[in-house]
Amino acid sequence: MTVLATVSAEWLTLRGEADARARSRTLVDELAHRLGDGPLIVHDLGSGAGAMMRWLAPQLRAPQRWVLHDADPQILGTRDPSPVLDGQGQVVGSQPSIEQLDDLGRDAFHGGSAVVASALLDVITENEARLIVNACVSAGTPALFSLSVSGQVLLDPGYQADEHFGAAFNDHQRRVADGRRLLGPDAVRVVARMFATAGWSVRELDTPWRLGPDESTLSAEWLAGWVGAAVEQRPELDSAADRYLALRRTQLAARSLSVTVGHRDVIAWPQ
Ligand SMILES: C[S@@+](CC[C@H](N)C(=O)[O-])C[C@H]1O[C@@H](n2cnc3c(N)ncnc32)[C@H](O)[C@@H]1O
Repeated sequence: MTVLATVSAEWLTLRGEADARARSRTLVDELAHRLGDGPLIVHDLGSGAGAMMRWLAPQLRAPQRWVLHDADPQILGTRDPSPVLDGQGQVVGSQPSIEQLDDLGRDAFHGGSAVVASALLDVITENEARLIVNACVSAGTPALFSLSVSGQVLLDPGYQADEHFGAAFNDHQRRVADGRRLLGPDAVRVVARMFATAGWSVRELDTPWRLGPDESTLSAEWLAGWVGAAVEQRPELDSAADRYLALRRTQLAARSLSVTVGHRDVIAWPQ
């Protein structure tokens, strides 16, 4: 059985607003353009607590039913029970589905209208990505995958240490965890190539978080995770990490630090 990195409901809540601002609405227009009048069945992979449904469903006018796929029953259990409305004000139906992506069958999306995900592709393996692409191609369902980490991070003011932590963090994202090699910052390139090889059209856009002084709580949490992962990957960075984090926290408190965390969104559809 696959062992997954767990994600906390608190972290998903904390990042929710920045995610909603960052995801590409241009690519939503592309998706909407390819969907019929409905009723739509939308598969959300690695749905977590359902943030993608809450963000995307109101932007689609057609009646919808969502299937929220996640391997972690606990995170699925933290879904907000309040209703989600589609673009015409009708309540959107949803059902959870507890499953590992490495069990995804080729016919998993047959009868579906679209496959989506947010903040998923960088934490899966190439094999899982292939299963997703194969199932999309088999069903002919357009796919919109938002917010995969691109590996680009910009801190202002910037220091040379940023590059050392950034390189180690990116290696950590590509690590082998419990026998699974994660795609990390290569995810969108890999998935885009798989769709293109299948003859599908693909469009990608950069969708970074741009965190200013008003998002210091998220920035601080992100920074701690970024540096922590870098040190786990390259323990020799440990001696510099405390001083670096203290400096960055002082700058956050003084509202003098801004952080740009690179993400990329990708949409694919049959030609
Ligand atoms: C970073 S969270 C994103 C959650 C949600 N999409 C959001 O944007 O808030 C990634 C989610 O994918 C799930 N996940 C990761 N790898 C998975 C896999 N191989 N199979 C099924 N679910 C997986 C995790 O349990 C987690 O809920």
